[in-house]
Amino acid sequence: MAKLKKRLWIQNHVKDPHVKKSISEGFRSRASYKLLQMNEKDQLLKPGMAVIDLGGAPGGWAQVASKIVGKKGAVVSVDLLPIEPIMGVHVLKGDIAETSVFSRLQDSMGTKNADLVMSDMAPNLTGINDIDGPKIIHLANLAVVVCEKVLTIGGSLVVKLFHSDDAHGFVRRLRRVFNTLKVRKPTSSRSSSSEFYVVAKGYKGGMRC
Ligand SMILES: C[S@@+](CC[C@H](N)C(=O)[O-])C[C@H]1O[C@@H](n2cnc3c(N)ncnc32)[C@H](O)[C@@H]1O
Repeated sequence: MAKLKKRLWIQNHVKDPHVKKSISEGFRSRASYKLLQMNEKDQLLKPGMAVIDLGGAPGGWAQVASKIVGKKGAVVSVDLLPIEPIMGVHVLKGDIAETSVFSRLQDSMGTKNADLVMSDMAPNLTGINDIDGPKIIHLANLAVVVCEKVLTIGGSLVVKLFHSDDAHGFVRRLRRVFNTLKVRKPTSSRSSSSEFYVVAKGYKGGMRC
């Protein structure tokens, strides 16, 4: 069953128009189009911004972000997996839940706070809601902890979630710490996936959500 699922996934992946497009346009992953589409709608990225990219491997979002923020901006990408160097991006390998990894992230930002925290972090999914749900919320909460420590007041967060009761509770809690919240499902996100993103703007600071 698992083998069949994997074979079907590979077949769909190869036929996927966003995969073909990403190869021809030099993006490392089809995920780039999710950020590009959200950015078109929500104007998340601007030249000169400092951006933190959580769950950055293989680097599709970082490529998009570094192009837009330009030389005056900064992008720091963190992942459990290695990320091949990307021009204008500081890459870190490690688990963002670990204090030492977070310290390296802060060091690489210097005295700057982040204008935008992006989290496309995802666990290895089992397909079993009771197992996957808490893992996903844990990763989303880690993104919020990063916001509490380094997001500038008025800054933005984009965070990946998967539909579940817990995720909807998380979104309600986020409303307390950001001025505006939008739920996004970019067309480049597979309709078969229950993933969606929350775009939160106008960080108020302070309390943990
Ligand atoms: C969907 S992929 C990200 C794709 C990426 N945004 C891109 O554009 O190429 C999710 C990533 O989250 C990473 N991840 C999961 N848990 C993490 C953690 N605790 N710390 C850092 N990265 C994590 C995984 O290793 C995986 O590479």
